[in-house]
Amino acid sequence: MLNRVLKDKLYCGLDIGANKLKVGLVQLKDGEPEILGAYEHPVHGFKDSCVHDLNEFSECIHQVMTELAAKTGVHVKDIEVGLDGNLVKIRKTSAAIPLVDRGNKVIAAGDVRKLNKQARLLGVKMEEEVLHEMPQTYLIDDINAAANPVGLYGRKLAVQSLMVVSDVDKAKNIIKSINHAGYEVRHIFFGSYACSHLLLTPDQRRNGCVLIDIGATVTSILVFHEGIIKYVHAIPIGGQQLTKDIALRLKLNFELAEEIKRSYATAVSSQIQEEEVLVKRDNAYIPIKHGEIYQAISDRLDSLIGQIDDSIRASNLYEYVGSGIRITGGGALLPGLIERIEEKTRLEVSLAQIQQLTPRNVSNAAVFATAVSCAHRGWQFQDQGQMTAQQHVDWGRRLINKVKELYFEYF
Ligand SMILES: Nc1ncnc2c1ncn2[C@@H]1O[C@H](COP(=O)(O)OP(=O)(O)OP(=O)(O)O)[C@@H](O)[C@H]1O
Ligand SMILES: [Mg+2]
Repeated sequence: MLNRVLKDKLYCGLDIGANKLKVGLVQLKDGEPEILGAYEHPVHGFKDSCVHDLNEFSECIHQVMTELAAKTGVHVKDIEVGLDGNLVKIRKTSAAIPLVDRGNKVIAAGDVRKLNKQARLLGVKMEEEVLHEMPQTYLIDDINAAANPVGLYGRKLAVQSLMVVSDVDKAKNIIKSINHAGYEVRHIFFGSYACSHLLLTPDQRRNGCVLIDIGATVTSILVFHEGIIKYVHAIPIGGQQLTKDIALRLKLNFELAEEIKRSYATAVSSQIQEEEVLVKRDNAYIPIKHGEIYQAISDRLDSLIGQIDDSIRASNLYEYVGSGIRITGGGALLPGLIERIEEKTRLEVSLAQIQQLTPRNVSNAAVFATAVSCAHRGWQFQDQGQMTAQQHVDWGRRLINKVKELYFEYF
């Protein structure tokens, strides 16, 4: 029983990134979620967004979970999975339903559910699975836009939604690998979206805010306004391409180029361009100028920053971004990038910080935000499953509303 209570209070998020697996553990302490730890492990058996070796990938999951257990002293069985990058697709969808043949009626919650289901069926392909469905606006009788149409009169109801989908087979193979490693999958989230719940405050989401997640292979742009997500776009550039550019230009292997990038690369041309660093290549030390490292990544960076700016403007929400830009993901740690994005977009930019949780043992929020956020979302979802005293009251109200809806529908 004690174990059960303890188990219920632990939530583990697993962020499946292109190069690294990251895990985050959140514990509920006195009713408040707190970060217990976060760790990463290189990915093996997973390539081009697919499991390509079940045993190798399972072993990798097993290792990162064992490491987490060793460092935190607790074991978990259930995992909240975060998918990002090329594993998810964002799509717009819309649908409309007639409410009655003649006259009008009060729109019921059931009508909205039916409409959303219709939009989901129209927006998703056979081989896809819906991770999130985000209704944007409801339109009553083609003219009246409503955030929540329940209780309003109408004859026709339409919706425009954003859908986050994932390939069914790819997701199934990931679940199978996790099961193979001895764990169960509780939920699957779009990682960058899960992040937004911990990295942005409700005020920022209401005022208008952009979250940019710069991963290894993909940069995701999420624009929030009026409290909801309004626009998502993926740019196929991430930190890995910068490493490859350094490797190619300076004729280094990927690992060494990655080390150099993390230690010496900057997004702005500095005054120490002529200064040299010594790099070991083919058993000999060779000098490389700071300027050469900067030159190696400069075109790709220009392209990334340009596409970020284009994307925010293409959202048609630029003028509503009152709370500026927050950046996250490992790629966001490149020195000078914040200033470059600020200069290009003319919006205030800062590194996103984990809000609400005590950030114990998390030295690098940009890298671990997704894993920790998935764990946190897992807790929020679990929490929603249990009826609180307030929800009992709401349940009573919902029953009364249902009776009212039926009354309006038939009389
Ligand atoms: N200090 C740093 N300076 C510059 N780049 C860094 C730094 N730390 C990490 N990165 C880069 O961040 C990238 C990894 O970021 P992250 O862990 O968010 O990606 P991921 O989640 O594995 O990828 P994706 O989300 O695309 O699947 C790598 O390309 C890495 O080189
Ligand atoms: Mg990521």
